[in-house]
Amino acid sequence: DKTSRLLIISNRLPIQLTERGSKVSMRESDGGLVSALKSYFDKTATSNLFSEKIWIGSADFPEERWTRYKAKNTGGATFEIEPLFVPAKEYNHYYNGFCNATLWPLFHYFPSYTEYSDDTFKSYEEVNELFSEKILSILKPGDTVWIHDYQLMLLPGMIREKRPDVSIGFFLHIPFPSYEIFRLLHNRWKERIIHGLLGADLIGFHTHEYVQHFLDSVQRTIGLTHKFRQLNWQGRKVKANIFPLGIDYEKFHDMPDTPEVKEEKKAIIDKFGQLKVIFSVDRLDYTKGITHRLSGFERFLELYPAWREKVIFILVVVPSRQIISKYNERRKMIEEQVSRINGRYSTLQWQPILYRYNTLKFWELNVMYQVAHAALITPLRDGMNLVAKEFAASRKQQDGVLILSELAGAAHEMTEAILVNPTDKNEVAHAISHALGMDHGEQRERMIELQKRLKKQNVVNWVASFFDDLDAITKAQRNAV
Ligand code: UDP
Ligand code: G6P
Repeated sequence: DKTSRLLIISNRLPIQLTERGSKVSMRESDGGLVSALKSYFDKTATSNLFSEKIWIGSADFPEERWTRYKAKNTGGATFEIEPLFVPAKEYNHYYNGFCNATLWPLFHYFPSYTEYSDDTFKSYEEVNELFSEKILSILKPGDTVWIHDYQLMLLPGMIREKRPDVSIGFFLHIPFPSYEIFRLLHNRWKERIIHGLLGADLIGFHTHEYVQHFLDSVQRTIGLTHKFRQLNWQGRKVKANIFPLGIDYEKFHDMPDTPEVKEEKKAIIDKFGQLKVIFSVDRLDYTKGITHRLSGFERFLELYPAWREKVIFILVVVPSRQIISKYNERRKMIEEQVSRINGRYSTLQWQPILYRYNTLKFWELNVMYQVAHAALITPLRDGMNLVAKEFAASRKQQDGVLILSELAGAAHEMTEAILVNPTDKNEVAHAISHALGMDHGEQRERMIELQKRLKKQNVVNWVASFFDDLDAITKAQRNAV
């Protein structure tokens, strides 16, 4: 039992507020970070690990809209929301600049997409500082602070400076790249980032490689070496460790067949009849390998003509970071490719790709996960990839096949999937044929293993093991003083 409060900090808040006329409406934010943390909160609403949970993030809506939303929506929530209102220009430089035009491409091994600007780094520092001020104004003795992701890597250090006593965890949801990539950041930025992260007591990553890359970068940037993933920094112990993110397995596996779901399932099955359905969903991001995936699918139609008119690829792309030119460009590339492939292979009765550029409601997503015969998830780099896990968890009948990129963090734990190198269109084409031709027994064997692991290594255990480790290191810290 705990009586302390948990402060969760991430750039993205779990809700988006839109306004039409005088009506403010809410929808859930997209992306793996929000869906993981939110499902953890929903699932542990009645647990007493923490007396109170507060989620602090930047608001991409005006303060006045928030005030009106809050007035009408009181009580009932499993956590408090504390939005931080960042001036628009600064936010733009921070979010569309340093976060998503520098750190995001670089950490996903897209050095040629990486922009280097002292101005956007300055805004990155400033916005991290604004977060720090906000947290310091809320922080009470005994609180635990858990900071998430690459947008806030300076924040642990900023809080530590003012509050040496507080217990701080940090989790990176994206890959930590090899030093040869990390070193491309300007030297001052690198140092600031490493110092910032070392303000935490515990720094979590999805995979063993990311931890090794981080420790290597610490050594090569500031000369500090580790022992069993532990560092001594400014008289304190800092630990780096592996915590592969899980999902709320039951939310997907035991999704009830509401009338809505039943109807939609039937509609899809009626519509596609005998066609085998291949499905994918991602945010529109060049890291997701959508254009390579389309090339793989096209190659499949070329190499296996017998499958033409017997298969459909439902490609759902969720709008993301639309102001950034590389995202916009990618959208055009995807749309051109979809229409080219459809133009080339469609018949009067059949079209190979059904493309949708929109967000999905949870139940729509769940229906797609259930009706598809195969999921084709082929990022060029991905910290983890929850879509792959959600698809496997949703297969109540323990059938269906997951084709997964070996460059996704999830591939480490999902070895029963058909693993592919997403840059090789022939390999992707063969994998699709393998998946569609796989007999039921083998589908089942693979799915059972995948589900066993997903059920065990779920989001609740992810949080629990992170806090076990954080507790241990905080105690050791106190004893050492
Ligand atoms: N998702 C979403 N909106 C949608 C479709 C999917 O928020 O319209 C969710 C999906 O269920 C998953 C997350 O977005 O939990 C994507 O996480 P993932 O780790 O696969 O990739 P990320 O977007 O975080 O890079
Ligand atoms: C990834 C990142 C998250 C981010 C999400 C959605 O999962 O790791 O930090 O929230 O993408 O991106 P967005 O820029 O819309 O927050």
